[in-house]
Amino acid sequence: MLDGPERVGTGVLGLDELIQGGIPKGRIIVLMGEPGAGKTILSVQFLVSGMVKQGEKCLYVCMDEEKKDLFREMLQFGWNLAEFEEKGLLHFIDATPLRFMPERTKLGLTYVDRKDFTLSSVIEVVQRTVKETQAARIVVDSMTPLILQYGDVMQRRWATMELVTALTNTSATCVLTREMKTLGYKRGLEVEEFISHGVITLQSLKIGSNIVRVLQVQKMRETMCDTQPRPYFISKNGIEVRPKATVFE
Ligand SMILES: Nc1ncnc2c1ncn2[C@@H]1O[C@H](COP(=O)(O)OP(=O)(O)OP(=O)(O)O)[C@@H](O)[C@H]1O
Ligand SMILES: [Mg+2]
Repeated sequence: MLDGPERVGTGVLGLDELIQGGIPKGRIIVLMGEPGAGKTILSVQFLVSGMVKQGEKCLYVCMDEEKKDLFREMLQFGWNLAEFEEKGLLHFIDATPLRFMPERTKLGLTYVDRKDFTLSSVIEVVQRTVKETQAARIVVDSMTPLILQYGDVMQRRWATMELVTALTNTSATCVLTREMKTLGYKRGLEVEEFISHGVITLQSLKIGSNIVRVLQVQKMRETMCDTQPRPYFISKNGIEVRPKATVFE
């Protein structure tokens, strides 16, 4: 049998077991989850693992949260992002000011819409930073403001493809977080899920009289993955998955 792709460990206990040892190197994964499900924690854990274990350069593009808030929140898991930044391992891009751009802006002789400007600025700054730093892991937290501003589903598809293609061209392994609005097991699928190389969901499900936090690998190209929903926990070490435990009887 031919060797599979090189794998990039996620640093999340129990998760790599579900995906043949890790994310295929250079692939783009969407991490979907409900509010407070642990999307940010998991994506930072993925970066920290690369920085600590392999001294890899990482890039975190922040769309939603203030840097100081994120750095403080992550300290409780023992992840000192300021220190990684000082060492030159972590490159932090604060893309939150883009939210305050006017709907339409004149650039040179033409007008550009905020949505096209934000997408192309993020792509441009990521490409530039990866070129300068040789980052091996990238997180965009979250892709939701970049993609959801396209109301039309075809436009959203093109925007997602543009983002995924640009990130694939960097050769870095990427995690893009994405808000999930529906609760429960049955949900509609989003266009981003079809275009990305892998999808992992974080949900709370009602099982009997309990609410259980459940991680599910929905897809992972080039991977014989375990697609069963598995319980996960958030502890002082970050996210931990129970890869053998079942949630349904
Ligand atoms: N020290 C801790 N121990 C256990 N659980 C924690 C701890 N700190 C935070 N949490 C849990 O993590 C959740 C927040 O995780 P995180 O910020 O990664 O979620 P998120 O999916 O990114 O949320 P959002 O949609 O708001 O961006 C909290 O709702 C809380 O349940
Ligand atoms: Mg978050």
